[in-house]
Amino acid sequence: MKERDSKPATSRVDVSEVLGVLHDVSNALTVILGWVGAARAPSAPRDLVDDALSVIERRARMARDMAREALGAEGVEVDGLARMQAVDGIVAELLKALSQEATKGNVSLRVERRGPNVTILQAAAATQVLTNLLLNAIAFSPDSSTVTLDVDTSRGTANFRVSDEGPGIESSRRATLFSGGASTRPGGAGVGLRHAHALASACGGSLAIVDAHPPGAHFELGWPCMQGTPLPVRPSLRRLPLFAGRTFVVCDDDHDVAELLSTGLEARGADVVIASTGSALLNVLREHKQIDAVLLDRSPVAEQLVPVVDALASHPSRPAVLVITGAAEGLGVELASVRSLMLRKPFEMGDVIEGLAVVLGGTTDGPMSK
Ligand SMILES: Nc1ncnc2c1ncn2[C@@H]1O[C@H](COP(=O)(O)OP(=O)(O)OP(=O)(O)O)[C@@H](O)[C@H]1O
Ligand SMILES: [Mg+2]
Repeated sequence: MKERDSKPATSRVDVSEVLGVLHDVSNALTVILGWVGAARAPSAPRDLVDDALSVIERRARMARDMAREALGAEGVEVDGLARMQAVDGIVAELLKALSQEATKGNVSLRVERRGPNVTILQAAAATQVLTNLLLNAIAFSPDSSTVTLDVDTSRGTANFRVSDEGPGIESSRRATLFSGGASTRPGGAGVGLRHAHALASACGGSLAIVDAHPPGAHFELGWPCMQGTPLPVRPSLRRLPLFAGRTFVVCDDDHDVAELLSTGLEARGADVVIASTGSALLNVLREHKQIDAVLLDRSPVAEQLVPVVDALASHPSRPAVLVITGAAEGLGVELASVRSLMLRKPFEMGDVIEGLAVVLGGTTDGPMSK
C-alpha cells in the first residue's frame, strides 16, 4: 500500500485538465458506441462481435484509467509495463478502434510506415492524442476521401503525421489552435486539440500543425521512444536484486527525492552516486568510467543541457538516461543522441524500476538482459 499525501484529491488537477480528460473519455465512449452499434446488427458475423468486444474492453479500460487518474486515485500504475507498447501495436489498435467511425463517415484510413518497431512509454497517452487527431480528421473529411497516418520511427523518435483531404486550417488560426475554445465543428467543444497538445508536451513529445501540400490539415506528433522490442510483463521484477553490478547516477536537486531513489535502487543491488547539480553530474561523468544509467531531473541541468548531453553521448560506457521530471518539454529532442526514456513526476518506485529495466534492456550484458 502506497502512502497518500494529505492534499484533497481535487487539488492535484486543474479545471482545464479535467475538461481535457472528460473530452478524451467522451472520445473513448464515441469509439465504444460505434462498435456496440456494429455488433448489434443482426447480420454481424462472429469475428466482428469479437473485435467489438476487444475494442470496447480496451477503450473502456483506458477511459476508466483516465478518469481515475484525474480523480487523483491511487493504483492507476498497477501495471506499469502495460503503458509501454510497441508502435506497431498502437497503430494496429487505433486503426481497428477507429474503423467504425471511418466507415460511418465514408472515409478510408491508410497507414504509411517507415523505421523499426520501437517501444514508447506512456502508450495510453499517445493513443489518446492520436485518437483526437484521427477523429478530427475523419470529422473534417469529405465523403470518399482518405485519412493517412504516417508513422516514421527511423530518426530516433516516433513521428506520427495525421493528414486528411478536408478544408485544412487557415494560417491565421494556427497560432491559437492549441489554446482551445475555437471550435468550428457542429457540436464541437474546442477542447480536444488543447488537451492533446498539453498531454504530448507533458510526456516529452510535441504536437504541431505542419505545412504540407494542400488540400487538408496535417498534424505532426513527435513522441519519445527507445529502440528495441517491449519486455514481457513480469511483476516479479519489483522484488528481485535486479540491478546487482549496475552503477547509477541520480541527478536531482530535490534532496528527498534523490535519497528515496538512491535507497530504492541500492535495495535492489545497485551502486548509486548522487549529483545534485549539473556541474556535479559533469564531474561524476568525468570520474566514473562505468555508469549504466543516469536518472536525470531537468531542473539541475537546465542551464547546462548541452554539455551534459554531450558528456552523456561521449561517455565510454554510453549510459542510458531515465528523465524524471515534471516538465519534460523539449528534452525528448535534446536527448535524441542517447538512449533515454521519460518518467513524469509524480512517479512510483515501481515506475522507476520498470523504466530502468526497459532502458537497460537494450544492452548486451548485466542482469536485465539475462
Ligand atoms: N483535421 C482538421 N481539419 C480542419 N480543421 C480542424 C481539424 N482538426 C481541428 N480543426 C479545427 O480546430 C478546431 C479545434 O479542434 P478541437 O479538436 O480542439 O475541437 P473540436 O473538434 O471542434 O471539438 P472537441 O473539443 O469536441 O474535439 C476545430 O473545431 C476545427 O476548427
Ligand atoms: Mg476534436
